Amino acid sequence: MTQVPDDAVRTRWFEGRAPSRGALPARAWTRTDAPALSLDGRWRFRCAERADTPADLADPALDDAAWASITVPGHWQLQGWGAPAYTNVVYPFPVEPPHVPDENPTGDHRRAFALPAGFLDGDGTRAVLRFDGVDSAFTAWVDGVEVGRSVGSRLAVEFDVTAALAAGGGADGEHVLAVRVHQWSSGSYLEDQDMWWLSGIFRDVTLLARPAGAAEDVFAHADYDAATGRGLLRVEATGADGGPVPARVLVPELGVDAAAGEDVELEGVQPWSAEEPRLYDAEVVAAGERTRLRLGFRRVAIVDGVFTVNARPVKLRGVNRHEFSPDTGRTLSEEEMLADVLLMKRHNVNAVRTSHYPPHPRFLELCDEHGLWVVLECDLETHGFVDLGWRGNPSDDPAWREAYLDRVRRTVERDKNHPSIVLWSLGNESGTGQNLRAMSAWLKDRDPSRPVHYEHDWDSPYVDVYSRMYASHEEVAAIAQRAEEQLADADLDTRRRAMPFVQCEYAHAMGNGPGGLVEYQELFESSDRCMGGFVWEWIDHGLRQRDAAGRERFAYGGDFGEVLHDGNFVADGLVFPDRTPSPGLLDYAAVVSQVRFTVETTPAGDLLRLTNRYDVVDLSHVALTWSVQDEGEEVAAGTLPTPELPARGSALLELPEEVLALAPAAGERWFTVTAALAAGTSWAPAGHVLSTGQVQLSPPAPAPRGAAVAPVRRGADVLLGAAVLDARTGALRSLGGLAVQEGPVLDLWRAPTDNDAGLHGEALERTWRRLGLDRLRTRTASAVVSGEEFVVTTRTAAAGTDTGFVAVLRWSADTTGAVRLAVEFTPDLPGGALGVPLPRLGVRLRLPRGLESVTWFGRGPGEAYSDTGAATRVGRFSASLEELQTPYVRPQENGRRADARWAELRGPAGALRVEGEPVVALTTRRWSTAELDAAAHTPELADSGSVHLHLDVAQHGIGTGSCGPGALPQHRLEARPRTFSLVLRPLG
Ligand code: GAL
Repeated sequence: MTQVPDDAVRTRWFEGRAPSRGALPARAWTRTDAPALSLDGRWRFRCAERADTPADLADPALDDAAWASITVPGHWQLQGWGAPAYTNVVYPFPVEPPHVPDENPTGDHRRAFALPAGFLDGDGTRAVLRFDGVDSAFTAWVDGVEVGRSVGSRLAVEFDVTAALAAGGGADGEHVLAVRVHQWSSGSYLEDQDMWWLSGIFRDVTLLARPAGAAEDVFAHADYDAATGRGLLRVEATGADGGPVPARVLVPELGVDAAAGEDVELEGVQPWSAEEPRLYDAEVVAAGERTRLRLGFRRVAIVDGVFTVNARPVKLRGVNRHEFSPDTGRTLSEEEMLADVLLMKRHNVNAVRTSHYPPHPRFLELCDEHGLWVVLECDLETHGFVDLGWRGNPSDDPAWREAYLDRVRRTVERDKNHPSIVLWSLGNESGTGQNLRAMSAWLKDRDPSRPVHYEHDWDSPYVDVYSRMYASHEEVAAIAQRAEEQLADADLDTRRRAMPFVQCEYAHAMGNGPGGLVEYQELFESSDRCMGGFVWEWIDHGLRQRDAAGRERFAYGGDFGEVLHDGNFVADGLVFPDRTPSPGLLDYAAVVSQVRFTVETTPAGDLLRLTNRYDVVDLSHVALTWSVQDEGEEVAAGTLPTPELPARGSALLELPEEVLALAPAAGERWFTVTAALAAGTSWAPAGHVLSTGQVQLSPPAPAPRGAAVAPVRRGADVLLGAAVLDARTGALRSLGGLAVQEGPVLDLWRAPTDNDAGLHGEALERTWRRLGLDRLRTRTASAVVSGEEFVVTTRTAAAGTDTGFVAVLRWSADTTGAVRLAVEFTPDLPGGALGVPLPRLGVRLRLPRGLESVTWFGRGPGEAYSDTGAATRVGRFSASLEELQTPYVRPQENGRRADARWAELRGPAGALRVEGEPVVALTTRRWSTAELDAAAHTPELADSGSVHLHLDVAQHGIGTGSCGPGALPQHRLEARPRTFSLVLRPLG
């Protein structure tokens, strides 16, 4: 590989590893009273396919009237130039670092601006131009003078433009800012994060006035000693030369008026935590400028191998957050940032890893204010080298050392004052090597107050916490007990075994799922070594787009004609692209809820235990209400006093007198307790539900059974109570006047979920299709009236295979109007065991269009599978067919309503009741499984003219096989003989 000296590449400077030219030292991003001029807005724009076009844009006299215009901040691919492209790991260009292709889309941006009156008044006031994010490399000129250039897309950079402004400017006082942005640069090798490749000035551009003698940088150290309740404050204020500048530090609420650099001890300070985000407003007053700070006092420490804040072990209930908007990519509005924070808080999330780069600074202010623990990650990923066996990985190449250090410096300096940040992360998936070690060494020197995180070096030689992604439950169980496998190096092993453990990514939330959350959470809570984890990931990166038929959809990899792409692997979040919570987020909220209800068997019967799973606060902010429901109908309700429980305390909840006094239930009775916010907070109103607990007080009443009604053969039909069956095929033709178009027929298939596809985990789909489970056909072997039963025997199998599934369907009826179907299911496997679980086991029916809504008594209101659905509870629910569908970005199995004791379908076409014996799961759609399976985007699913009703007694678990372990053994649906039954009833 040729080494290109940085100066030899003037025209292709962006291939140099030197990160920038002309950049000012990185410093904290602060709010001050010095003048600032936003340069966001409409800019002139032109785009070239290559980088080597004349740089005439710099010339202030250039007439750009004919250029198009673009919104800054924004990506040009989302505003009509070029197209987004998605790859996960692979680089979308030949790997020959630091070179990039000649085809290097280049966006020229220009705008004029005038300095507001007085902007640069004051002796020695300088002007600084700040770019908060430009993807991936750019040069900036002011009035024709180059003021600097930079790489590092998600890292702020500043240039001194005082001289350029002084020398330039038109007669009318207008200045011209020109910015040439290249899509590809040496930096692209360090920015191989799993996301859309999108370019441009995607964060704010601001001109800042810098008064002479002002503090260029401030570093607030707000420590808290939990033993004494004392705060220790020191705020460093430094000038342009890096040396201290005279400044006063004011914290009015604490009576502080101290010199910068001075240690101030403070009695009775309230500490900051994600649970109680206590902030103190402060100001640093230096010559010509007041800098505002929001201080949070807290101490992060690893004590005896346990991650603590303010001397308390802390559990992270986290998510990995990319910045994403379905319309503007990584340019986020303030509303979207706030929406993320509020949604997280409202779903019991208490931590966020800024995967895999520093976010917009506003997001961190919101984390400080509303309370989220933050793992702040540097903008670094070189994952594409993995396919080359890490050959040439920049992480271990000294030529890249300065680029790595530049990245960590810019990360830490910008964000160091945020109390919410409790860990620094060096980056993601960049292999191992000396440059990572150098970053860590720099960090430990600069900010010893926060531990260092990096996942990809499992030996953990230069980090403070042992981090892994997608470790299986089994492995986490071992690590939780510090009983993981030995490392070859005994010293490293001892060092790592003494560390706390975090899953920086787990529970891959792609499509339907993630399954297995409950079991992970139990493990995290089983040991103080476990710091918890971060679900991968927060949001689906689906870009809003119209398909050829004009339907709006969320696009994923390949939808922009990319040659190389990773499909819908980009849609793997807990919220859909438009930030609608998916069932996965609701489940996560239930699983990690800090207000935990569990059922406990006591001599007085089953009761609910309430556990305070907060790390810091008691439950005085929680209000409890209860409700008793018989068969899903409320019969009594009230409030409960909230027991006084400190963090991690628990208490049994006695049943209220009113409940004990109730007349015995005629059927199934449930006692439900809801924990809600007693008063409004910054992130949710009073009454916001934190969690729900349920305990069954009375079992279901035995189903009434009438005398048998014998089948009667009439012509080609068998009449059985309200049912008319085909005497030859055994098919149900109608039930009390409701025509049945098909079935019930054995139903073993589901439209594979992303987790079934198992791209980076257990890949079941491939085997299922090889076995032909997606193209099963059913043959009726016999249909005979036998005493009080009509017995239909079928064999279901795929073309070309001798594997089959025999179902004996025993139909009977009674005088209560019940038509009962009992199924004996037997796999017929001449070739031996299938080797994979079955997708589902049940029957399906095709009914006429016009059964529009479903009411059921069972789990709801949302979908549930054997290893998902923690958010559901037992009750009576109603939903339209539309509401029963979950719009995963890529269509797949969804919408199952579990444990239905009964369900009623109604509409203009008639009505039908289904009863489980004791329960059945129900899925109802306007399209068939085959249609669901064939669609690539949800809006393609169209009314097939029928209602497809799937009644299953089991489905294989969901797991997280898309990237991680499949369903746990207890959630697997093995192909074994099994019997099940259900009742159909006509409804008048
Ligand atoms: C991890 C990676 C993430 C994402 C995830 C799969 O390996 O750190 O960025 O790619 O896998 O979605």
